Amino acid sequence: MIEYRNLRVAILGGGSVGAQVASLLIEHGDELAARAGAGLEVVGVAVRDVNAKRDTDIPAHLLTTDAESLILGADIVVELIGGIEPARTWILQALQSGADVITANKAVLANHGPELFDAAEQVGAQLYYEAAVGGAIPIIRPLRDSLAGDRVMRILGIVNGTTNYILDRMDVHGDSFGEALMDATRLGYAEADPTADVEGFDAAQKAAILASLAFHTTVPLDAVYREGMTSVTHEQVVAARKAGYTVKLLAICERLVDAETGVEGVSARVHPALVPLDHPLAAVHGANNAVFVEAEAAGSLMFYGAGAGGVQTASAVLGDIVSAARRHVVGGPGVAESTHANLPVLPMSSVNTRYQITLTVLDEPGVLATIATLFSDRGVSVEGLSQSVRDGGDAERPTATLVVITHQAAESSLAATVAALAASPVVSSVVSVLRVEGL
Ligand code: HSE
Repeated sequence: MIEYRNLRVAILGGGSVGAQVASLLIEHGDELAARAGAGLEVVGVAVRDVNAKRDTDIPAHLLTTDAESLILGADIVVELIGGIEPARTWILQALQSGADVITANKAVLANHGPELFDAAEQVGAQLYYEAAVGGAIPIIRPLRDSLAGDRVMRILGIVNGTTNYILDRMDVHGDSFGEALMDATRLGYAEADPTADVEGFDAAQKAAILASLAFHTTVPLDAVYREGMTSVTHEQVVAARKAGYTVKLLAICERLVDAETGVEGVSARVHPALVPLDHPLAAVHGANNAVFVEAEAAGSLMFYGAGAGGVQTASAVLGDIVSAARRHVVGGPGVAESTHANLPVLPMSSVNTRYQITLTVLDEPGVLATIATLFSDRGVSVEGLSQSVRDGGDAERPTATLVVITHQAAESSLAATVAALAASPVVSSVVSVLRVEGL
C-alpha cells in the first residue's frame, strides 16, 4: 500500500509529447504510482491556447495558460515547450521553488546547462533530461549511472532522425537531397524550416550534452564544431556505397591529446562522415537514432531506437517522472551534475581523423609522385589509393579520377593537404572530401 502523499506533477507544454505524457500518466496512474511509491497527480498542463486542436486529448479542466501559477506548489515540473525562453525562466522558477524538473529541451540544456544545474544544486533539487537526446533511447542514465565506474573514450552518435532519414533515402532509394527532404517533411520528421536539422544545429546541441556528461566536463555549445549535411551529393553517397561505406551525419565526442602541445582534452563535433558498411551505425536506417559508446572497460556499446515522436519521447519523460517521484519518497538532495574533470575543450584542428579525397587529376607521368609529395610534406600518410581509367579531360590533357584514403592524421594537416591539392597544377579539381569514422 502506498502511504506517501500524492506528488503534484505540472506539465508545461501540450504539444505531441506533453499531451502523451499527460494522457499516459492518467491512464497508467496506478501502475506508475506503485513503481514510484507515491501517487502522481497531474495538476495541470500549461499551453499557449487551450482551444488548440490536439492529436491526443488532454482533459479540458487540466488546461491552463498560467504556467507560473502551475509551477508554484508542484513537486515535479515537466518542461516540454522547447526553445530557450520562457523555458529557461520557468525551469529556474521551478527549481528555486524546490521542485524537481524534467526537461526534453536540448536547446536550453546546451545553452544554459551550468546555470540550471547550479540552481538545482543550490536547493537540492534534481534536473532530469533523458528525453533531450535520442528521444526514447536510454542514453543519459547509462552515461551518468551505468558507466559512472568506467571511462568513456568516444561517442559516435546518429542523433538527428531527419538527417538520417534523408541520407538513408539518398543511399538506399537513390533519392536526391531535395526529394528526400520533401519526403521527410511530408512524414512530419522535418520542420517547415529544416535548418536546425540539416545544418547540424540540433545534433550539435545533443553533442554538447553528451560530451559534458560523458567526460565530466562542461562542453559549451560554441565549442562544438559543426558542419551540416546539405553539401552531401547523391554522387558522393553512390560512390561511398561502391567503396564499402555509407554517409551518416555523426555527432562525435572524444577524449584526445593535441599532438603539438601534448594537452589532454576532449572535443565534440558534428559533420557528415563515411562509416564502413560493417559498422553497427551503418545499419541505422530511416529516422532512427543510435549512440555508439566506446568505454575503456566496457568496450563498445550501442544504444538504438526512436529518436523522436510524441509517445516515444513520452516514454523517456515518464521514466524521469518515476525517478523523481522515487527520490521524493526516499528523501535527500538530488545528485549534482558531475563536472569534476573539467578537461580543456580542444578545437577541431586538434582532432585526429581520416579523409577520403576524390580528385580529378591529369593522367600524365609524374602526377602520382607529385600528389604523394603533397601528402607526405604535411605528415599525412596514405592508406589506400585507387585510380580510374582515363575518364575526362581531352586528347591532349586527359584526366583520371583518383580516390585517396588517408591514415589518421591531425585535422589541421589534412585540411592543409586538401588546400595544397586544390592549388596544385596537376589537380583539375577536388571533387569530394569526406571524413572517415568508425574504422
Ligand atoms: N528534429 C530532431 C530529429 C528531433 O530530426 O531528430 C528532435 O530532437
